[in-house]
Amino acid sequence: MKNANRRDFIKKASILSLNAGILSKSNFSIISKKSNKPFILGGVKTINPGQWIKWPIWDAEKDEKILLEVMRSGVWSRSKTVIQFEQAWANLIGSKRCMTVVNGTNALIIALHQSQINAGDEVIVTPYTFIATIQSILANGAIPIFVDVDPSTFQMDPAKIEAKITKRTKAIMPVHILGLPSDMIRIMAIAKKHNLTVIEDACQAPLAEINHQKIGTFGKAACFSFQNSKNIAIGEGGAIISDDDAFMDACYSYHNLGLPYGIATGSVTAGSQMQANKLRFSEYQAAIGLAQLTRLEAQTETRNQNANYLTSLLKTIPGIHVLRLYPEVTKAAYHLYPFRYDQSAFKGLSRAQFLQALDAEGVPCMGGYTALNTQPFLKQTFESVNFKKMYHSGELNYATYMEQNQCPLNDTLCNEAVWFTQNMLLGTKNDMDLIFQAIQRIHTHADEIKKKLQ
Ligand SMILES: Cc1ncc(COP(=O)(O)O)c(C=O)c1O
Repeated sequence: MKNANRRDFIKKASILSLNAGILSKSNFSIISKKSNKPFILGGVKTINPGQWIKWPIWDAEKDEKILLEVMRSGVWSRSKTVIQFEQAWANLIGSKRCMTVVNGTNALIIALHQSQINAGDEVIVTPYTFIATIQSILANGAIPIFVDVDPSTFQMDPAKIEAKITKRTKAIMPVHILGLPSDMIRIMAIAKKHNLTVIEDACQAPLAEINHQKIGTFGKAACFSFQNSKNIAIGEGGAIISDDDAFMDACYSYHNLGLPYGIATGSVTAGSQMQANKLRFSEYQAAIGLAQLTRLEAQTETRNQNANYLTSLLKTIPGIHVLRLYPEVTKAAYHLYPFRYDQSAFKGLSRAQFLQALDAEGVPCMGGYTALNTQPFLKQTFESVNFKKMYHSGELNYATYMEQNQCPLNDTLCNEAVWFTQNMLLGTKNDMDLIFQAIQRIHTHADEIKKKLQ
């Protein structure tokens, strides 16, 4: 009896514990399913969107003091603070000279202009860029020639450059888009072979490196932007760097009404030596820039660490194609963090729906650039009075130009890309885990989300 009782107890207990096991297991799966439900389907947000680090960043105590000093000095136009910033920027990037200007767009316009890029010239460029790159070529009366991208790196594909070189090609303009370095090793070799000038659009890529050499120091000159969203935010501002003294003297002259290099702001006695413009940086801008410089290197390290970690997580999710850096890249600037979204691995959930669901999770995201050649500005430029005076009609056949400048891989890239902004990479490792979890959630529930958003 005793034994029987004991046996019964063990039997009962094991049935009970088995039940308990089954119960707790199914409870867990119910709970985790519920908490794993995307916000858009009635779940809880993965992240409180208010927790992302706001941009721009400034230090009220230290930075506001520097700015006040400028105000109280009464010297607000280009003077010693601007020179101090220019020297600091040249030192940081590893260039002989730096000259600031009002913005990155005008830095590019001047750099091309002072490299004698004019009407009748062709400049080889990527279609995956901010419109300012292309506008700077057109502003000089030259024609942009588009080279398709390598979608895995988001950069101009160097293997496709040589096919685009003609007798009219004067320059290559690599754009280190999203803060990821272009393949400068191959691009410089092609430029050397064909005797082409290289002007780097490094507006999104301060402190990025190839083989420990800073982006911006490969070509004849490079341009940077200090616009508010950029990794070094001043509101507006730009800079040209180069080791070429004659070129930099000419750039200076151009940005200061054609007055000879070194003539101080406000001088009315020096004779102007060239047709020019007035595009000077102010003391306020330089003061903010100097303050921002104190943080840039540490922030760049954090962005790299978080981006690398995020990449290691995201590459495990089917349908998320993580970015590829060229093997020689020793540091990226990660002005943006991109990946390519393949909707077929998300049950046909479109990119727009994916972005909507991810944003709803508390992860701000965007689809990035639209293909530049679908925008009206190129056609309008070809039809402008100035271009008609610079080119004969056969050279301005827009349909032929469009045909010759098709970039199908870029068209696809523009439809597949997803971006996070650089400030999100200044968060914690846990923030990266949460981004990963939010995307995983969407992947798991892609079918239901699609139905809900249809
Ligand atoms: C790639 C690229 N080129 C040029 C520019 C122009 O710079 P800015 O806005 O300072 O004129 C930008 C800025 O957004 C950019 O991202």
